[in-house]
Amino acid sequence: MYTREIKNAINYDRTKHPERTNATFGRVAEVLENVLESKSDELIISLQKKLGSVEMDAELSEEHAEKIVSTLNAHALTPDQLHAIALQLQSSEISTEEALALHKKYKVPVSHLEKDIIPVAGNGCWIQDTKGNWYIDMDSNYSATNLGMSNPEIGQGLYNQANLLISMKEDRVQIARTRFLKEMSDMMPKDLNYFYWQNSGGEAVDKALKIAKAYTDSKQVIAFKNGFHGRTHGAVSVTWNEAYRKPFHLNNEDWVHFATFNDIESVKKLVEKTGTKIIIMEMIQGEEAGNLPADPDFIKQLWNLKKEKDLIIIDDEVQAGFGRTAVKKGDWFACQSYQVVPDIMTIGKSFGGSYPVTAVVTNEKISQSMKPGYDGSTFGGNPMAMTSALIATRQMKEQEITKNVIARSKQFFDGLEQLQQKNDMIEDIQGRGLMISLLLGSEENVSKVQDNLKEHGVKTSLSTGKYLRFLPPTIISESEVNLVLDRLDTSIQQC
Ligand SMILES: Cc1ncc(COP(=O)(O)O)c(C=O)c1O
Repeated sequence: MYTREIKNAINYDRTKHPERTNATFGRVAEVLENVLESKSDELIISLQKKLGSVEMDAELSEEHAEKIVSTLNAHALTPDQLHAIALQLQSSEISTEEALALHKKYKVPVSHLEKDIIPVAGNGCWIQDTKGNWYIDMDSNYSATNLGMSNPEIGQGLYNQANLLISMKEDRVQIARTRFLKEMSDMMPKDLNYFYWQNSGGEAVDKALKIAKAYTDSKQVIAFKNGFHGRTHGAVSVTWNEAYRKPFHLNNEDWVHFATFNDIESVKKLVEKTGTKIIIMEMIQGEEAGNLPADPDFIKQLWNLKKEKDLIIIDDEVQAGFGRTAVKKGDWFACQSYQVVPDIMTIGKSFGGSYPVTAVVTNEKISQSMKPGYDGSTFGGNPMAMTSALIATRQMKEQEITKNVIARSKQFFDGLEQLQQKNDMIEDIQGRGLMISLLLGSEENVSKVQDNLKEHGVKTSLSTGKYLRFLPPTIISESEVNLVLDRLDTSIQQC
């Protein structure tokens, strides 16, 4: 029992799994250690004898696989153990050590390496690592995997589309996109129904800036202190954190001016001083401000200023959009919950159920300022992207994600307030919807709590200085929120 599965996971069948390679001996040994722990030693030694001088990173042949299976049979493992071995080999045929070594050898080191957890599989809010451990993921891959860590329906749709028409350039009419347009329009804020599709949030922000500049025929842009808009040349230029801009000589751009968030006087002064027509903002500042929501009064005054001075506001909803910050049912975007409509909006992350698809969205009048030849994209809005966007947005509506966010957000905030009463470490709680942060006094406290949480199977890799940030998948259930609160309580107390 399960030995066939083990053999098939060691020697891949290209007709069924063209994405795989043959397993290495290193991976087989690792899986045996994961499943059998100290009892694996003897088995690994006998396998090494049987297979002869096989290197740890050598891919195993059919003959090797037969020998491994017969050795496992001879050791009288239980069906549960064999099943666990098969599942772990199916999820990865490559060892943790080899994956890490290749990553370090070949990846440009632009980010801190999260090397303790190497995810191989996922289900709902949960991810499984190469060691077979499960973690509830409270950062949703920077707020992208909101419909879960795997998605069979999107998988099926992408499979069908890849077999039919895998790509098509942006400037052709295509059916996958037409299907999407029929599905999407009722989700959008009023009049924002002209789309320009991109592949990442940063790209969408870049294109939003281009559209705003073309429409206003002006160059100056006001962004906000502690705002974050991505890493492309344009997006990073309007991002506050100097450490992201300085190495690229983007810290003194003459077209970018930073105002203070939630301070209308600061915006007014900059508009007066610079004559700027374009403002870019997040309604809930995420990455750099620890999930700080805009004050509703500030938004009201900003929209008054917009009217008075004829300004263009770009609302960057790459992170906050698709229900994450809903206050009432049907608030698909933060601007809807603040009851304002921006001129241009950027969307991404959740959009394709985590398949890379993003967009700039605007109204008809502004859209017409972009003329043929002004821009273009090879992959923007390709049929695979549009298929995943169609399926993901349909799922969001069917699963009433905004309703879930409102309920889970209340549960989360209530639970955190109770924890605050008994844990001095929690100095403040801030956020909106399922963009939530705890102020924990020091960066050391944040990393200690994160380490403890990880020990208890909760992965929250996101923080902003003294803030521990939570961006749970928007499908998170009541029992999962309770579980996280419970483990958070224990983790804080263990500090
Ligand atoms: C508000 C906001 N805008 C833009 C981006 C950039 O998105 P991407 O990483 O897909 O380029 C992010 C990413 O975190 C974001 O939070």
